[in-house]
Amino acid sequence: MSNAPRININLNDFVKDPYPCLKEMQKHNPICYVPELDATLLTKRDDIFINEKKTEIFSSLQPDGLMTQLMGENMMRKDGQEHLTERKAIFPSISPKTVKNFWKEKFSKNATNLLEALRGNKKANLMTEIAMPTSAYMLKVITGLTNMSEEEMDRTSQGMIDGCSNYIGDPLVTENCNNCTESIDNHITDRINRGLEDNDLSLLAVQLRAGLSISQTRANIKLAISGGQNEPRDAISGAIATILKHPKQLEMVLNEQCTWMQVFEEYLRWMSPIGMSPRRIAKKYLYSNTTFDVDDRIFFMFGAANRDPTIFSDPDRFDITRDCSKSIAFGAGPHFCAGAWASKALITEVVLPLVFEMLPNLRLDPKCSIEYAGWAFRGPLAVNVLWD
Ligand code: HEM
Repeated sequence: MSNAPRININLNDFVKDPYPCLKEMQKHNPICYVPELDATLLTKRDDIFINEKKTEIFSSLQPDGLMTQLMGENMMRKDGQEHLTERKAIFPSISPKTVKNFWKEKFSKNATNLLEALRGNKKANLMTEIAMPTSAYMLKVITGLTNMSEEEMDRTSQGMIDGCSNYIGDPLVTENCNNCTESIDNHITDRINRGLEDNDLSLLAVQLRAGLSISQTRANIKLAISGGQNEPRDAISGAIATILKHPKQLEMVLNEQCTWMQVFEEYLRWMSPIGMSPRRIAKKYLYSNTTFDVDDRIFFMFGAANRDPTIFSDPDRFDITRDCSKSIAFGAGPHFCAGAWASKALITEVVLPLVFEMLPNLRLDPKCSIEYAGWAFRGPLAVNVLWD
């Protein structure tokens, strides 16, 4: 076990709001062992930025980890050449060019139809009625599982996330997770049986064409679903809720002094949807007075890094005019988010502009408050809005 100072946390408080605790750690013990998580946490932005690239020490290989056991061996749990081969295989599906030329138009049509249908209601829970279906639709087209409903996409994503964080081994959570992975497998089999076109750029098609095995292909599709639904969903609803709470900044966007990209990037920095990425120590390592031992569990705390006061001034303040180039909300190493370009297009070029264009005088419902939850995955619980 690492010799980092031991810092105890109250898990309930950490789930409600990890930031006060992370701030204290950053100030006094930026690398610390937290017994309640059985992990050594790196909380400073530059410590993560430097070390995440040292994959021979901070390895992604976790063969006994819950994710590998429940979802199969996906690229996020591989290092070096093995990881690179799979990453290259999926690139044609998630590249900026494919997003621009193929996916964006589909995202746009879908979001327009959805908002058209909702317009007359004059109120909605953004999370469930706009953010969830637009994110799930993005995953349907990118994975190739167009035979799956948006609700099933959301359910299976959540079921796998719950399964992978089920450290106490609740059998019901495991059973539900198995049911979700089985549902995805059935949808994959059905899509293959119906035949894939030669020019299909979905994750399913490009992996099989690149010669990845069916089990690698299935595992990476499950990874995209578990990692690609809640973050865009939370970023859409959280960014809208937050910009509505900052009317002067919203005005700057509507006047075209600022962009939706600035809103998105500042939101990801300020309330990072993925707060943590785990690693395993592959060989003994000394860094910044800390000795790490083989098999130590390490958490790169992206959420803390994005509020590091030595990098971002007044980091708790939401300010779309700040420079976010040092934010590591999508990661900082070879596992940099594969869905980053698709998410940027969906959120900054489609959903945020369309929501403000098609729902006039959009405002938060004054009767409802916005509460956030989670530390590994963090987002609002509900965002109730009204419009004219
Ligand atoms: C706002 C949206 C999103 C955020 C903030 C986000 C964030 C992240 C983060 C922090 C990582 C881990 C990086 C690391 O450990 O260095 C990651 C990895 C990954 N993400 Fe995303 N993600 C988002 C959307 C998506 C979407 C929509 C997809 C699928 C289409 C996706 C697919 C993946 C995959 C496959 C990986 C693993 C990449 C690898 O191992 O090489 N993500 N994401």
